Amino acid sequence: MSPPAAAAVRDRLRIAIQKSGRLGEPSRALLTACGLEFRESRDRLFCYGESLPIDLLLVRDDDIPGLLADGVCDLGIVGRNVLAEQSAERRAAGKPEVAREWRALGFGACRLDLAVPESWDWQGAAQLAGKRIATSYPALVRAWLAEQGIAAEVVLLSGSVEIAPRLGQADLICDLVSSGATLAANQLKPVQTLLQSEAVLAGPVREFADARGQWASLLLRRMDGVLRLKDSRLLLFQAAREAVPALIELLPDAEPPTVMRLDGEDMLALQALCHGAVTWQRLEELRHAGARGLMVVPVERTLA
Ligand code: PRP
Ligand code: ZN
Repeated sequence: MSPPAAAAVRDRLRIAIQKSGRLGEPSRALLTACGLEFRESRDRLFCYGESLPIDLLLVRDDDIPGLLADGVCDLGIVGRNVLAEQSAERRAAGKPEVAREWRALGFGACRLDLAVPESWDWQGAAQLAGKRIATSYPALVRAWLAEQGIAAEVVLLSGSVEIAPRLGQADLICDLVSSGATLAANQLKPVQTLLQSEAVLAGPVREFADARGQWASLLLRRMDGVLRLKDSRLLLFQAAREAVPALIELLPDAEPPTVMRLDGEDMLALQALCHGAVTWQRLEELRHAGARGLMVVPVERTLA
């Protein structure tokens, strides 16, 4: 018998991402921004990393925590909701934690909400006693009910949860809400958030003991660089020396600017890395406060 994959020593890192669906494209875009290039296999399920020893596995998002638990994959990009559900399930079964959230990735935001028929007069959680809640997140719902001290029935559905109240399968639901359109289309209203979710990088609880550790830290470093720069722009402008303090006050989200003296004049040239959005309005305010020759430049990478 071969040893379990979890125990295997490997020198390549394997990342699982969603094959299709909301997180698939932005996950790939993030990895590409981190300098990862892949050769696609013909089945498009495994992509060999060409620029670094980091390979990609394209899977169903619900499978990602299990692949991490089994050691088939080393890291995964998955919704916090999926990771939290499987952690809650392991906790309820008395099994040890195997995967945890390494980083929040800032895309794929949604909420796991309780939603009730619009006709309900919502008075609070106590109202749920004895009710049937349809959900694809039974462990999270049970854990929340236990926390609230409420006895309610959980009805497990793998999809089309929103229709359950109308079909008489449940009294209310607990499901993901992003725009709210699906709830509205099914005459339901959100009343309680159980979890704020977004895409996260999931990884093992313990650090890698082999070469994978080195590749994981390299990837994390690059990812942090990309995430930090997400809305960042380099702002270039000139200003008279006396205008500079007021201008800097208009840039609370900027790193301390680099200031250069222009030859023979009392004008300074400044460059500041801004981490918030640099809108037209902000440029107009800066111009009003004395900035001239304003230029906004995209920043591709930084390395501290
Ligand atoms: C999710 C979720 C809701 C819907 C909410 O389904 O299960 O049904 O999105 O989005 P909204 O608030 O913008 O309407 P998804 O489309 O991911 O399909 P799935 O649940 O079948 O995977
Ligand atoms: Zn899904």
